[in-house]
Amino acid sequence: MSEFVKGLEGIVAAQTEMSYIDGEKGVLEYVGIPIGELSAKSTFEETVFLLWNKRLPTRSELDEFTSELRQRYELPAGMEQRVTSLPTNAEPMHVLRTMVSALGMHDAQPNEIELDRARRKCLNVLGHAPTIVAYFDRYRRGLPLIHPDRSLSFAENFLYMLNGEKPTATMARAFDICMILHADHGLNNSTFAARVIISTLSDVYSALTGAVGSLRGPLHGGANEGVMKMLNEIPSVADVESHVMGKLERKDKIMGFGHRVYKAKDPRASDLQGLAEQLAKDTGNEDLYAKSHAIEQIMEREVAAKGIYPNVDFYSATTYHCIGLKLDLFTPMFALSRIGGWSGHIIEQLDGNRLFRPKAEYIGAHNAPYTPIDQR
Ligand code: ACO
Repeated sequence: MSEFVKGLEGIVAAQTEMSYIDGEKGVLEYVGIPIGELSAKSTFEETVFLLWNKRLPTRSELDEFTSELRQRYELPAGMEQRVTSLPTNAEPMHVLRTMVSALGMHDAQPNEIELDRARRKCLNVLGHAPTIVAYFDRYRRGLPLIHPDRSLSFAENFLYMLNGEKPTATMARAFDICMILHADHGLNNSTFAARVIISTLSDVYSALTGAVGSLRGPLHGGANEGVMKMLNEIPSVADVESHVMGKLERKDKIMGFGHRVYKAKDPRASDLQGLAEQLAKDTGNEDLYAKSHAIEQIMEREVAAKGIYPNVDFYSATTYHCIGLKLDLFTPMFALSRIGGWSGHIIEQLDGNRLFRPKAEYIGAHNAPYTPIDQR
């Protein structure tokens, strides 16, 4: 019997051509292209094409892919009524998880898993998910829904549906960069969940529903909301030192720091830091950036020796706040982007599938007596 490894740490459980991570050096590449290159030069749509096809598209391929995605901005008939009949106090991540599952019921052939068909279902969810989140947010605020605009990019259209006005080029680009940076990251917990589910030859909607459920945990994608809550708890830059030191002394985790794979600064955190700093200046949120930066400096001094550095969630909190997103939309933003990565992994898994079925090491009793119920 092979050795039990808690949390499957260090276990190689899949092969992928999508993202490469060197956690010691802080390197992340999508299909071999450094993440910094993509965040500087690509778009979210092109990045998803890259992840799904393992190569960059030609101009006409990108146009076709983008047009197919835009055709899916509108929800299938009946979905709008579903979204607008949910409890207004529901958490957006619960809404997204439940509505991704519901999308399966609005597909006449939800169980098709031939590669081409599965890919189209992934595209359905990628196109519909932003509309679900934006509709729910406006519905809970008592505002009229803003229907999607197919002339807009993924990033522009989402901010437009949310706010009712077209975003500035700077905001749209900042959001697009966030989408690129969050799109894929090896066999993280939610991606593993998606691959485990599809490996039973279940269906794309089930796999993506499970992945959304995994992502919302505070040890995974939910950490960006935790970062913002922490920043809100700290009144000013002058209070950062005592706040962080207090948490460390109590052995509380500082959200947005540490990573199972990275033992250096997450390269996405470096990209997001620059974005957060610029947006904070543009939107009068300098104090928020200053608090974040001060936290990073204290963490560098106190725990960097243990390999604890900022992860992707740390500066994305300030970035999302400056873009004008409400706190409980932070993790859904991560999900909107990661649907691109989960989908690529679902396709990879289906292409040469083997059912995931690890073993558990039994550590309980043997030959135990069965005691009748009235004698227990
Ligand atoms: N703040 C303070 N100390 C930390 C932190 C942190 N954020 N993360 C790890 N440590 C410390 C631990 O207390 C532990 O110290 P010890 O050896 O003295 O007991 C040591 O570093 C190792 O920590 P583990 O929790 O064992 O590391 P693991 O690889 O299991 O954890 C994890 C990774 C879960 C991400 C962890 O760092 C954490 O909880 N971070 C905060 C939550 C977070 O930001 N999650 C987002 C991750 S990125 C993503 O999913 C998108």
